[in-house]
Amino acid sequence: MAYDSSASLKDRFTYARQSLVEMFPKWLRPGKTYQGFVKALRKIPSEFREQLQLHFCRHHEIWILSDLAYSEIYFDVPPPPSILQVPGAREIAIEFTSMSKTYNMPGWRIGFASGNKTLIGALTRIKSYLDYGAFTPIQVAAAAALNGPQECVDEIRAVYKVRRDCLIEQMGRAGWSIPAPPATMFAWAPIPEPYARIGSLEFSKLLLEKAHVAVSPGIGFGEFGEGYVRIALVENEQRIRQAGRSIRKFLSEPLESMHNVIPLASSRN
Ligand SMILES: Cc1ncc(COP(=O)(O)O)c(C=O)c1O
Repeated sequence: MAYDSSASLKDRFTYARQSLVEMFPKWLRPGKTYQGFVKALRKIPSEFREQLQLHFCRHHEIWILSDLAYSEIYFDVPPPPSILQVPGAREIAIEFTSMSKTYNMPGWRIGFASGNKTLIGALTRIKSYLDYGAFTPIQVAAAAALNGPQECVDEIRAVYKVRRDCLIEQMGRAGWSIPAPPATMFAWAPIPEPYARIGSLEFSKLLLEKAHVAVSPGIGFGEFGEGYVRIALVENEQRIRQAGRSIRKFLSEPLESMHNVIPLASSRN
């Protein structure tokens, strides 16, 4: 498939998607899972990856819209890099971030974008047609958060780390092994056996019904999310322990007791 700037938007997207996959050597191409893709990406030296992306985007006239909402929510690893750290990135990229995670302001609907001048200009124009800017006290609060002391950022990061460690430990006790996420406020958990074959949607419904715990089915994030559920670290430690106990009880129940919900028990042999 060759790039054709007069092709439909859909065809140009298909081309961009396919080219992004094919720019990697075959042995590095995205595997079946998101984790596989991330592992593959990590094998490429970052400077090479960055320059490759920059060159690739310039060549194919692709803009990068980077979403760095979790720039400050990381644990035991270096801070997630910004696309704007790459020399020359401002030629092709704009980066968004949100006050929701870094300053614990979810629902305040405020964040900011920086980067390419043309894209910022276009965003300003579109925003001026769509709305009139955030409520002034919220803008003032956001400016105070950004310009004020930053200790709260470390405190918020520490809260998520404690919750993450608590979740991994509690689920481990319940017999559910979940890789500890190195960043963000979510754990991406493989569906435990023997439930894997019912899929993430059915498993999420079962967890809600039997353990009273709400998780997001991986399939909701696209086909490669199947086989996983996403658990949000939005509850305090006590509630996470409570969820852990409830899930432990659920996972230790004999499958036969759920034969009305899933056909697993009968198909066990
Ligand atoms: C990856 C990512 N980007 C952006 C956002 C948007 O955050 P908000 O709408 O709260 O500013 C979220 C919120 O969960 C997110 O997870």
